[in-house]
Amino acid sequence: MTPRFPLAVLPTPLVEAPRLSAALGCGPLLVKRDDLVGFGVAGNKARPLEHLVGAARLAGAQVLVTGGGPGSNFCAAAALAARVAGMRCEIVLWGDPEGAPNVALARAAGACVRPTGRSDREEVDALAAERAAELTASGTPAVAVPRGGSTAVGALGFADAAAELAAQLAGRRPSAVVLPVGSGGSVAGLLAGMAECGLDVPVVGVSVSRPPESVRASVLALARECAALRGTVPPDPAQLRLVDARGPGFGRTTALEDERARLALHTEGWLLDTTYGAEAFSAAVDLLLAHPPDPVLWWHTGGTVPAVAHIETAQRGTTP
Ligand SMILES: Cc1ncc(COP(=O)(O)O)c(C=O)c1O
Repeated sequence: MTPRFPLAVLPTPLVEAPRLSAALGCGPLLVKRDDLVGFGVAGNKARPLEHLVGAARLAGAQVLVTGGGPGSNFCAAAALAARVAGMRCEIVLWGDPEGAPNVALARAAGACVRPTGRSDREEVDALAAERAAELTASGTPAVAVPRGGSTAVGALGFADAAAELAAQLAGRRPSAVVLPVGSGGSVAGLLAGMAECGLDVPVVGVSVSRPPESVRASVLALARECAALRGTVPPDPAQLRLVDARGPGFGRTTALEDERARLALHTEGWLLDTTYGAEAFSAAVDLLLAHPPDPVLWWHTGGTVPAVAHIETAQRGTTP
């Protein structure tokens, strides 16, 4: 097991949403507030970073190299995590970095942003690994972390979160735990941790960028790897259910998701981003409406920077 480098303020709150439930006329929604994780605006990504940074420090790394797109919450959080841990950070970035709030945040943390000048998302993991190898060969030890921090080590963060949740539930049993799936590390870790602590609740992964079949295979493989690292039982694949929320495209919401995100803002004051939060929240509301008395737990994973940026952009066109 790697040593954790503490970043987050844990446990994050587990709350109910009485005004939202009243407005929807449905059963209780429990919300795990990782948007309030207490490290920058890292949201769910503070959890994997505690382990990834811990492992990087243990390996003697002076530089953490990662990759992503201009909207990546992970890249901004990784830059800040590396900084507070006394490491440099380099980010291999696809797409256009200019004017992107998360890129500005990464730069404010001191990260060196290296744009590829291309829109190929897949290549940045290999380029980050190459850059880390190049730095190490020239005498500066560096580690590469793939997009989203979704390795078995990164997934340890959400395996810890399962035990945190079980303690907060204190015997209550929601009908499902709903959270978004991007690179998959959060759901994978959660599945591993829930199996470990005997929390027998289905996990509904809301896939925002990939077809559910490919997500299932990669998430389950990562969950098994994570369980093996912890020396615990592998998760039951039947506990993972997937919702296809690719909708109108990455970072774009349907009219219904938009309307529900506005309701969440106006009843509970939650900020939901258009890539992860609005989609997963809407899937949780679908479950609540389908089985009105059963409580559903929705994991608010953050996305605060893009959520605010979206509101600002939308107001230039229309008034929300
Ligand atoms: C706000 C937010 N929620 C959810 C996710 C998805 O988490 P994962 O990549 O572990 O599947 C991300 C990924 O970057 C994210 O930024």
